[in-house]
Parts: sequence; structure tokens; C-alpha cells
Amino acid sequence: MFTAKAIAVCASVLTGVSAALAQSPQFGQPIEPADIAAWDISIGPDGAGLPPGRGTAIEGEAIYVAKCQACHGDKGIVPGVALAGALVGGMGTLAPDKTPIKTVGSYWPYATTLFDYVRRAMPFQESKSLTADEVYAVTAYVLDLNGIVGSNDVIDAQSLPKVRMPNRDGFIPFPRNPK
Ligand code: HEC
Repeated sequence: MFTAKAIAVCASVLTGVSAALAQSPQFGQPIEPADIAAWDISIGPDGAGLPPGRGTAIEGEAIYVAKCQACHGDKGIVPGVALAGALVGGMGTLAPDKTPIKTVGSYWPYATTLFDYVRRAMPFQESKSLTADEVYAVTAYVLDLNGIVGSNDVIDAQSLPKVRMPNRDGFIPFPRNPK
């Protein structure tokens, strides 16, 4: 039975817990900007947040062959089922009378997203293992395979945001909070 004594014990335990919480506010503590910086790696469409570094497609090819090709195919093309995993091709397929094939080249509106995505998520089994130079170089290589930049173009924080993706104007703005 729940006696008055049991209630009193519960009450005193709760009082003790809240007193302990009040004394040791150790559940979380202020985080320093430098600690956040290591996680805050988002790159804006305009290139905001791109780190120092540079690379060309010529340099990126060796990185791609060693670290990407096994999953994404020779030169970014995966033969077979609807180009799953392909990073290249599909240009012109985003049209009413075609079956859309969405790749970095045919679909993505901003080149800076490629840097962001590869840096945070690729290689799939070893994400965040590439240096900034390696990410710039392999980004340049994927863009070159799509015919968007030249093999010797230097891709860095200044040039990458200026790269115009073929489907840049293919998105229709959708006002989520119409006033
Ligand atoms: C072990 C296999 C594997 C390796 C190696 C790998 N990837 Fe991927 N990649 C994937 C998978 C799986 C996805 C889809 C992930 C998802 O949708 O969540 C993906 C997605 C991508 C995408 C997005 C494609 C799209 O259109 O949505 C890009 C870009 C990409 N990878 C680039 C790279 C690059 C560059 C490398 C080498 C540095 C690399 N990947 C290495 C498996 C791999």
C-alpha cells in the first residue's frame, strides 16, 4: 500500500534530486566558437564558408579513381539501372517528354553544393577523410566530366561559386509562407 511514509520518502528523494541539479549544472556547458567551427562546415550557394585550398580536374582524376570510382563508375557513369550512383550525364533529360536522369551535371543548381556534399559525406565509407585540396580537385574532376569546367581550371573558394550549373534556372521558387 502507498503509505504516508512512502510518499514522504518519495518527496525527500525528489527534493534531493532537484537540490543536486541546482548544485551541479553539468548538463551541458557553453560551447566555444572554435569548437563549433569544426562541425559548422556548411557551404552556402554563394560559396560562403569555402575553406582555403585549390585543385584541378587533372589532379582530381587520381583521387576519383582511387576513392570514388568503385561506387560511382568509370568517369562517373554507372552502366545499367537508371544510372544509379552516376555523377555524370543526363543532360537534357529534365524535359516533359523524357525520363529524367538526375545527376550532379544535369540536376544540381549550385557547384558549391558538390564541394559541401563530398567534403561531409564522401567517400561513403570514409567520410571527412579528404583534405580541402582533395575535395576541390575531385569536385573539379566531376564538373569536368560533365563538361562544366576545363581540365586545367583552378577550382578554389573564388572560382567555384562562379561556376554556372546547367540546371541553375530549372527550379521554380516555392513561397512556403505566402504573406
Ligand atoms: C562505398 C561506395 C562509395 C564511394 C567509395 C563513394 N561514394 Fe559517393 N555515394 C555513395 C552512395 C551510396 C551515395 C548515395 C548516398 C545517399 O543518397 O545517401 C553517394 C552519393 C554521392 C553523391 C551525390 C550524388 C547525387 O546525385 O545525389 C556525390 C556527388 C558523390 N557521392 C561523390 C563521391 C565522390 C567524389 C567520391 C570519392 C571521393 C565518392 N562519392 C565515393 C557511395 C560511394
